Amino acid sequence: MAAVPPLLLIALLCGLFAPRCDGACAEVDSDTEAVAGKGFKIGCISCKRRSEVEGSATVEWYFRPDGESDFLLIYSYNENGPTIEHNFFEDRIDWNGSKRSNDIQDASIYVLNVTFNDSGTYRCFFYRTLTYDNYEFFDTVDKVVHLTVVAKATRGTASIVSEVMMYVSIIGLQLWLLIEMIYCYRKIAAAGEEALREAANAEYLAIASESKDNCAGVQVGE
Ligand SMILES: *[C@@H]1O[C@H](CO)[C@@H](O)[C@H](O)[C@H]1NC(C)=O
Ligand SMILES: *[C@@H]1O[C@H](CO)[C@@H](O)[C@H](O)[C@H]1NC(C)=O
Ligand SMILES: *[C@@H]1O[C@H](CO)[C@@H](O)[C@H](O)[C@H]1NC(C)=O
Repeated sequence: MAAVPPLLLIALLCGLFAPRCDGACAEVDSDTEAVAGKGFKIGCISCKRRSEVEGSATVEWYFRPDGESDFLLIYSYNENGPTIEHNFFEDRIDWNGSKRSNDIQDASIYVLNVTFNDSGTYRCFFYRTLTYDNYEFFDTVDKVVHLTVVAKATRGTASIVSEVMMYVSIIGLQLWLLIEMIYCYRKIAAAGEEALREAANAEYLAIASESKDNCAGVQVGE
């Protein structure tokens, strides 16, 4: 039991007490490889440090194309809702972050029709206010995502090889298990017969020796 990894345990507990874990926030890193012509979600998650404290946040996204030196404001999300701030992304960004809440912890955006010119560095900023009983606490968090745009989803050879290996090993293990089961089954069956025979022999011997003992006893007793 001590060997169960803590993460697995947490997952199990979450399965058991799903409602408690529903709101849990995890800062998952964004994917960084987009395919030209497709949509792509650029992830950005900043969990509140004190989940029980009431908070609200606004978000800004900046973009620096590969080879450029300046970041451009491309998107903002605040009380007024989402705004695409740069022509380059006109009609191309959808909100993929926290919904129906000012307490934004997920500020992910979805870029439609990705082009090669979308390669570069994205930076998201959270401007967060935590409201305590007597005061407010302001906090700024930013995250950086380096996006590469490729023509086709490239799967590293390593990934393909490891997938094939996975299947090979799964099938191999299953076969091995099956063979082992048959082998064991036979062995047990054989051992069972053997054991029965031995038991019968042993019983016979026991009876024989017992009667011999008895005889001896009887002789000694005389
Ligand atoms: C993100 O936005 C896109 C475009 O609106 C939508 O198709 C997709 O389902 C959204 N994904 C999530 C996880 O909200
Ligand atoms: C995205 O691409 C599709 C198909 O090529 C096209 O119909 C659509 O108008 C494009 N949308 C934008 C915002 O460029
Ligand atoms: C990408 O940028 C280059 C150079 O600025 C421009 O010539 C080209 O039309 C752009 N491509 C797209 C798909 O926006």
